[in-house]
Amino acid sequence: MSEKIMPESEKITPIREKILANIRVQRYTPGKDKSPYFDNFKMEVETGMTILEVLRHIKNTQDSSLTFRAFCRSAICGSCAVKVNSDSVLACSTQLMPILKDFGKGSVTITPMSNMPIIRDLVVDIDPVIEKLAKMHPYLVENRERVPKALEQESLMSQKELEKFNVMTDCILCAACYSACSSVKTDSNYAGPLTIVKAYRYSADPRDNFSSMRIQAAMDQGLWSCVQCRKCIKVCPKDIRPADSIRNMRQISIEVGIHDTPGSRRARAYTDDVENFGQVNKPMLPVIVNGTKGWAAIEAAEAGLKKHGMEPTRQVCTLPGQKVTAKIYAKVREIEAKEKNQGENKV
Ligand code: SF4
Ligand code: SF4
Ligand code: FES
Repeated sequence: MSEKIMPESEKITPIREKILANIRVQRYTPGKDKSPYFDNFKMEVETGMTILEVLRHIKNTQDSSLTFRAFCRSAICGSCAVKVNSDSVLACSTQLMPILKDFGKGSVTITPMSNMPIIRDLVVDIDPVIEKLAKMHPYLVENRERVPKALEQESLMSQKELEKFNVMTDCILCAACYSACSSVKTDSNYAGPLTIVKAYRYSADPRDNFSSMRIQAAMDQGLWSCVQCRKCIKVCPKDIRPADSIRNMRQISIEVGIHDTPGSRRARAYTDDVENFGQVNKPMLPVIVNGTKGWAAIEAAEAGLKKHGMEPTRQVCTLPGQKVTAKIYAKVREIEAKEKNQGENKV
């Protein structure tokens, strides 16, 4: 069959727009500069140009001292993450033109990732993150019940088991999620999303036998500190949804009985109270979460209410829809148990 030749008039020519843009880049050399400052670079940006191409163009034509990190240019090595207009992105896979259009102005601001020390300009030190990751035992420890003794035999798993962690194996350690994390910002000891993604990836693997140690390591590094703001989901270039891994890791921590922290007590209080009363027992929450230390918060809240002429109560009433809520909980537990059994039996 002869190939249909398209008439010249019907050929689609991609529109290649050009905009003279102002590229505002944060500069900083610790030990030399007192504090970070901004340099402005004017350049013509074309449709399709990535942030990395823009940075390379500036380095090649305007300022060779501009420092940034990149290797693969294919969204694989994870080394080029920076912040563009405050969003953590991979420079090599993010085009500038749509950002300029979204913000409706010919200017863009590029800064280094947050929550990590700056080495120079846009290059940050990821070592503290890797140190946190190392504490999570990010490797498989053989589960003798699942891994055959003979080398020539494969270690099989069901599709359902694989689905639990398959997407997490795509993590490229770019640390965009770590940079976006509001909990890391307030608590530098918190392990952060990428380390828990890796911990969950191995803990969910049926060939592994080390999940309790990993849960303990995650607990020691603030597993329950995550506030589920889901910023890590928004920025992850590989759609890994780190906040979901954190939620799953917490679930494992409850299953294996390693979960006695204020964060886990709060989560338990929310689910138990909603199941039992249809609402959270807010007046008593500080004590449920923090033990006897919580009384001071309760007394302060009660004093505040009395000052405004209100009578405080420590009782939570049962809401009218509670019976329906309890039925929903029972159904969810039934589905979860069924899925768990299917996952364990179907190998
Ligand atoms: S969801 Fe949790 S881990 Fe993700 S950015 Fe928010 S606080 Fe950090
Ligand atoms: S989870 Fe996503 S954002 Fe975080 S390091 Fe891995 S690939 Fe990057
Ligand atoms: S240069 Fe490797 S991910 Fe961007």
